[in-house]
Order: sequence, then C-alpha cells, then structure tokens
Amino acid sequence: MNYDDFADLYDHQYDVYRDDQHFYAALAERVGGRVLEIGAGTGRVTAFLARRGVQVVGLEPSARMIERGQARGKASGLNLEFVQGEAQTFNLEERFGLIIAPFNALMHLYTPNEQLKAMQNIRAHLGEGGQFVFDLYVPRFGKMNTLRHEGETFYDAQGARTDIFLVQRHDKLKQTIVTEYYADTTALGGQLTRRHYTLTQRYYTRYEVEWLLRCAGFESPRVTGSFQGGPLDKGSDVMVFQTRGAKESV
Ligand SMILES: C[S@@+](CC[C@H](N)C(=O)[O-])C[C@H]1O[C@@H](n2cnc3c(N)ncnc32)[C@H](O)[C@@H]1O
Repeated sequence: MNYDDFADLYDHQYDVYRDDQHFYAALAERVGGRVLEIGAGTGRVTAFLARRGVQVVGLEPSARMIERGQARGKASGLNLEFVQGEAQTFNLEERFGLIIAPFNALMHLYTPNEQLKAMQNIRAHLGEGGQFVFDLYVPRFGKMNTLRHEGETFYDAQGARTDIFLVQRHDKLKQTIVTEYYADTTALGGQLTRRHYTLTQRYYTRYEVEWLLRCAGFESPRVTGSFQGGPLDKGSDVMVFQTRGAKESV
C-alpha cells in the first residue's frame, strides 16, 4: 500500500486525532531509551514523542509521507529521524526497548506471510525484555457501497474548500475494507476539481492477533479496549496490544 497519493491530505484528515498520543508518550517515558515507530506516516505521533524529549526513529515506506514528516519537524524546531522501509523487511543494527505501531499501521499487511514476516522482524529488533505495543481499530463498519460525507471539510489559505467523500466496500472473505476517497476542491470562483484515491485495510480480530504474536515469538499480550486501559468490550473502538518478546516461542 503506497501512501504517496494520500500525503497531501493525510494531515488535514488525521492531525485532529489525538486519542493515542499521551498513551504512547507515557509508555516511551516509562521504558526510556530510543523508540522505533513502525508506519510513522507524517510524524503525527513521532513529533508528539520528540516534543517530550523521547528519541524516536520513524520507519515509513512512503517517501512523500516522510517529506511531510520532515517538514513538520522543521516547522516545530524538532529534529525528526525517519528511515524509509517496510515492517516486513527493514533491517537496522540497533535493538530497541520499545517498538510501537500506532493508528492501524499494521493494517497494510495483507497476507498471513506478510503479517508473520513483519511480526518476526519486529521481534528481531527488540532488545532483551523489549516491548511491542500497537493499536488497531475494532472491526465495525459504516454503511457500505454508499457515497458518504463524514464532516471532513478543509479550507486552504486562498479560501478553496475541499470536501472528502468516501465509498467503502467490505470483502468479508479477504477481511479487507477498501475505501475509495473523492476529494472535491471548490475554488472561490466555484470551479470544482476532483481527486480520487484508494485505501485498502486488512482488519484483524482480537484472537488472530494473539495467535500471530505467539507464532512470531511474543508473549501473550495484554489487550485493552482503550488507551486508558479499559477492557475490550462491545463499545470499544480500538484494540490496544502490549506484549514482549517471549523467552521461548510456540
Ligand atoms: C494509518 S497511517 C498511520 C500513520 C501514523 N502512525 C499516524 O499515527 O498518523 C499507516 C501508515 O503505515 C504505513 N505503512 C503502509 N504499509 C506499511 C508497511 N508494510 N510497513 C510499515 N508501514 C507501512 C503507511 O505508509 C502509513 O504511513
């Protein structure tokens, strides 16, 4: 999945999402040392951690997302460190006490092979006793096959207005949600231009993640249904997994 097409709009859409930032920052402060963030995107969490004095390396496959992350760092006077690469194949010499994958970053691993390869590679980059912590949304979806507007409207400096419309399609057998986005920009004179881009997410169930972690050499995780530590239940929007490398894997 290449996020290059999304890079321009990503921050408009998701900079307002803050639910996870204090959780990851507090964790990083507790663990200490350098943190590796998988799927760092444009540095939404990376910058929040760096502002609190955490040394963080952001792994990200999309060159354009990294560019925007670097621009964010510059604008905030932060020296953000990004490495271009994918979870399945990155290879760093450093070992980390904490690896995080915030905001559904693992939903771009589509096959069991990719998922296992990524988890094993993450495991291999943990130091002794190191932790791996990530969150995924709970699979529950809005109305499918219907053009929707979910209140995403932004204005640029010239006053042009962009509205995001989306259509989602659910493939239950592949466990994927394909979202087609239509970004309609209306200039002040009324001229309309449309951009289209597609996002495919492979969603997970709780117990498949638990098995995946075990198979990749992690301990049985602590699973919560919020960043505040509440239980995973019918009302939860997120699943937060906290685990460590197992001494012996299954
Ligand atoms: C939903 S965004 C989350 C970005 C960022 N973590 C945040 O919280 O705003 C998912 C990110 O995962 C990245 N990604 C996609 N495939 C990946 C892979 N195989 N390995 C690591 N990251 C990947 C995307 O490029 C994208 O930046």
